[in-house]
Amino acid sequence: MIYLNGVWMPIEKAMVPVLDRGFIFGDGVYEVIPCYSGHPFRLREHLTRLQSSLDGVRIENPCSLERWIELVREMVAKNPWEDQGVYLQVTRGVAPRDHAFPKGVKPTVFMMSNPLTTPPQSQREHGVAAVTVADNRWLRCDIKSVSLLANCLLRQAAADHGAVESVLLREGFLTEGSASNIFAVKDGLIITPPKTNFILPGITYDVVIELARANRLPLEIRQVSEAEVRNADELWLTSSTKEVLPISTLDGKPVGHGENAGKPGPVAARMYQLYQDYKRRVMRSPVDVDA
Ligand code: PDD
Repeated sequence: MIYLNGVWMPIEKAMVPVLDRGFIFGDGVYEVIPCYSGHPFRLREHLTRLQSSLDGVRIENPCSLERWIELVREMVAKNPWEDQGVYLQVTRGVAPRDHAFPKGVKPTVFMMSNPLTTPPQSQREHGVAAVTVADNRWLRCDIKSVSLLANCLLRQAAADHGAVESVLLREGFLTEGSASNIFAVKDGLIITPPKTNFILPGITYDVVIELARANRLPLEIRQVSEAEVRNADELWLTSSTKEVLPISTLDGKPVGHGENAGKPGPVAARMYQLYQDYKRRVMRSPVDVDA
């Protein structure tokens, strides 16, 4: 079942008018919330980021926090899968085509859920291929906007090379992936760029940073140069659906050095384990301790 403007229905029945500004202008924002054994992961954080995205594009939040929480829980309950990825989207609404905001229009609220598919074991064991691409997106990458054309082109550039993700560089520095955040490791030190307008503040990024700190893994949040990306011992990508996934080749060259070259490194393996343990502890328990 999906949810559209107050009504639950099968996805085949869901229709949006062609003048919806999401369709015409990509004028809207979204969230993807992983749910494990019925428990939404970091729900409040996702809804806080939704509020920031809505503020960033000047759409009034159509629902209260409590209402969103209720809707996400209802969505999970109405769908059969043990683990789900709940997608929610708010657009500015339906109005005659004009760039300036229409007055008195109600936002369109759409939610759906899909089975949550995390990376297969082979990708986790061997890592994935990535390519570097110049980050040519706009300057508000901190907004989780549905205007994802640039991200789609960047991801396709990776797919064209048989790679899973593109690692984006802006003026000589790492920003993020086309749909993920990126971490590098050098001599045991984890480095990742700070939250600025150039990256999406990932919920998984926050969890990884918390876990690194809690487990005293050396970590620096600072600008990461292109040279550091290219010379890293390890590179990982993180997102709600990919979790913590090692990158084993970059632009066709093995990531890392010596006997670990081209293989997932030990820090990635540790972080993956910490992430899984954390998830298990927080999400698989009968009481909902996270949200
Ligand atoms: N994408 N950066 C970008 C550009 C993203 O699109 C995403 C997530 C992330 C990671 O954020 P999080 O850890 O909160 O999932 C970083 C989602 C999964 C998507 O568009 O499907």
